[in-house]
Amino acid sequence: MSEVNYNYLKLPGNYLFADIKKRVDAYLVKNPKADIIKLGIGDVTQPITPQVIKAMHKAVDDMASKETFRGYGPEQGYPFLIKAVINGEYAPLGISVEEDEIFISDGSKCDVGNIQEIFDIKCRPAICDPVYPVYLDSNVMAGRTGNMGVDGRFEGVIYLPSVKENNFCPELPAEVPGLIYLCSPNNPTGTALTKDELAKWVDYAERNKAVILYDSAYSAYIRNPELPKSIYEIPGAKKTAIEFKSFSKTAGFTGLRCAFTVVPKELKGYGPDGCKISLNSMWNRRQSTKFNGVSYIVQRGAEAVYSEEGAAETAKLTDYYMDNAAIILNGLRKAGYEVYGGENAPYIWWKLPDGVKSMDFLETLLEKCQVVGTPGVGFGPCGEGYFRLTAFGDKQATAEAVTRIIKKLA
Ligand code: MLT
Repeated sequence: MSEVNYNYLKLPGNYLFADIKKRVDAYLVKNPKADIIKLGIGDVTQPITPQVIKAMHKAVDDMASKETFRGYGPEQGYPFLIKAVINGEYAPLGISVEEDEIFISDGSKCDVGNIQEIFDIKCRPAICDPVYPVYLDSNVMAGRTGNMGVDGRFEGVIYLPSVKENNFCPELPAEVPGLIYLCSPNNPTGTALTKDELAKWVDYAERNKAVILYDSAYSAYIRNPELPKSIYEIPGAKKTAIEFKSFSKTAGFTGLRCAFTVVPKELKGYGPDGCKISLNSMWNRRQSTKFNGVSYIVQRGAEAVYSEEGAAETAKLTDYYMDNAAIILNGLRKAGYEVYGGENAPYIWWKLPDGVKSMDFLETLLEKCQVVGTPGVGFGPCGEGYFRLTAFGDKQATAEAVTRIIKKLA
């Protein structure tokens, strides 16, 4: 008998963004002429920058000649990209990372979902609420949680409310987790942890032998120079944290697919007898068994992100999206709405009027303004009453969406 992994059935039917797409598609069937502006899923809209395109064209040519052709690459990534990441990402922050601590992958979504595989099923996860749904869903699928209760929370998960009352900064939990998921700048609240706040978590993880899974996919959007762009800016973090970074939002690679995960060699997990085990070796074993690397062409494109001209183009790209964030933030604030985020992140977290449910608001916004956003409740129970707008749209369309909201919702 082929018994299924019943844990999957504990989850709601659809992944958040698939569910929203279904609702928008249904609206379009009824209103085929609707001019919809999508500020829902955080997908980029601007083309890949010229230096990256040039590098990928050259890489395509490499594949056409016997001397430069590449077959299977290293599962951990090509050394040329790993070196570029070290020099472009960590050296400027004064952080030393060794080449075999970096694992190139095809996306942070996969890595944050897969990483829990190298931890025991009894390892309890602590997860911010609201937050990117992949952390929770992947733990539910693995069987690390019980069922969802009427409050929308899964048994066995330690929820870390990140709400207006604590400035969207999660507090240390009373119950001790084995895994701590932190996302900064946070998706969806658009707020970023300070060095002091992060230092508290690093110290807590060290004291409790827990591992921090630090998703830093949006670090390129940090504009305040005081805010940390990597958890390794915090002393001791290499002993407590795995960091995930992505080219998706930094350089518009959502369709190309490239990211990297840092698993420091100093970081240890624990065996049943309490002995220390290298998580770097375990992740290496996992990746070399289940992953065959990112395409050579895409890795050459990612390498170009760190060239002098490539970095300048990438900075322009993130500035473009941050201008959109300012358009949304300023427009909604001027109209009297309460909004958060958007200053060091490409997401705007919009507080809805009291009593308005975020799923209902999705429909209202669609009907009245033909604008799509993401209901806060999709990111966790504490997201209820909020709505997320992304800054990754086209500038003109973003400005038009704000104009419609101001005119038609008032
Ligand atoms: C989001 O909209 O939250 C992100 O685009 C999802 C992702 O990065 O997978």
